[in-house]
Amino acid sequence: MTRSVPLLEDLGDLDGKSVLVRLDLNVPLTETPEGNRVVADDFRIRAALPTLFWLRDHGARITACSHLGRPKGKVDPKYDMAPVRARLAELISGVELLDNLRFSPGEEANDPAFVLELVKGHDAYVNDAFGSSHRAHASIVGPPHYLPSAAGRLLAREVEVLTGLLDDPARPFVVIIGGAKVKDKIGVLRALAARADKVLVGGGMSFTFLQALGHSVGASLVDPTHVEACKELLESTGNVMLPVDAKGLAPGRKLSIEHEADSEEATSVRDTAGPDIETFGLEIPEGWRGVDIGPATVELFGEVIASAATVLWNGPMGVFEDDRFAEGTKAIAEAMARCPGSTVVGGGDSAAALAQLGLEDKIDHVSTGGGATLELLEFGDLPGLAALRSAPNA
Ligand code: 3PG
Repeated sequence: MTRSVPLLEDLGDLDGKSVLVRLDLNVPLTETPEGNRVVADDFRIRAALPTLFWLRDHGARITACSHLGRPKGKVDPKYDMAPVRARLAELISGVELLDNLRFSPGEEANDPAFVLELVKGHDAYVNDAFGSSHRAHASIVGPPHYLPSAAGRLLAREVEVLTGLLDDPARPFVVIIGGAKVKDKIGVLRALAARADKVLVGGGMSFTFLQALGHSVGASLVDPTHVEACKELLESTGNVMLPVDAKGLAPGRKLSIEHEADSEEATSVRDTAGPDIETFGLEIPEGWRGVDIGPATVELFGEVIASAATVLWNGPMGVFEDDRFAEGTKAIAEAMARCPGSTVVGGGDSAAALAQLGLEDKIDHVSTGGGATLELLEFGDLPGLAALRSAPNA
């Protein structure tokens, strides 16, 4: 198979050897009441442990590296790796973690001089940074030109599960895609609609599809540059299902996240009397914003999920950061957890919703990738995988 990449076993004897390991430790941080920056969610750090333990057990000296945030080629204390280093040291000893790779402009520019700096003194390279493998950056695509290289356990597992969905899913294969931006998801939707039995579309992006069908969407989020693309997708595939109702927020009312962003506006109230939140069918009145799927959609989507042999979910069904509009996303997370078929969740927001509900353990595979998951599903390959295939030991 063209996607097959060298694995840890293909690195030969590692006893006493120095191994450079690219991880994706780009994790959310938070501040303690004392003002210390700490890791808020260590999912990606824990996900890297099987590879690190394997290398350590095989006698390797490990130098790990990762980016954190987007410091744009400059040293910025806000993106210092110290909190990540501290958490990693609690989970495994004896692993050195380099400074944030993106403190150097050479990382994102894929500068050959920076690649040479990275590989210097190392005998082998391991990529276990699935979440970053869609980036053709120096630490992802450079080292396999110089060192025997391999995919770590996490990268290999992500590729196996996600490409398994493309190649040979147990059927019925159901895909649920949500999130706000249709432009980020239209490519993967096209690729998945061609393979899945049913594609359920929810979240902010569903309003561009509903507008394409001629429904009134009020003041809901619509991407006018993608109405035509949504129409084409609906016409070329018969398997895309859209929401049949929506929870709407009244004109002039704000979401809780908007209140935080603009506290002055938060005090302003709608000057007409009436409820702030209402459920509508397929037509949303002028000025109202659809911000979650409604109960009829929850039931409809829930039934499709219950009958699936394979389900993939990416993206929230509404503005779940606002408790009033988290119900649709929660219901989908619960339906996923109950589904007897094989379940895969990809993307930071859907994984966060699962974690909030304590349902991660009920899902067969929760991907550590966001953009990488979508790109692998859309194109069937990633720059980081192609680089591993060109390594001297491949
Ligand atoms: C992610 O969080 O999706 C990865 O770490 C990649 O980060 P990036 O989008 O800043 O390249």
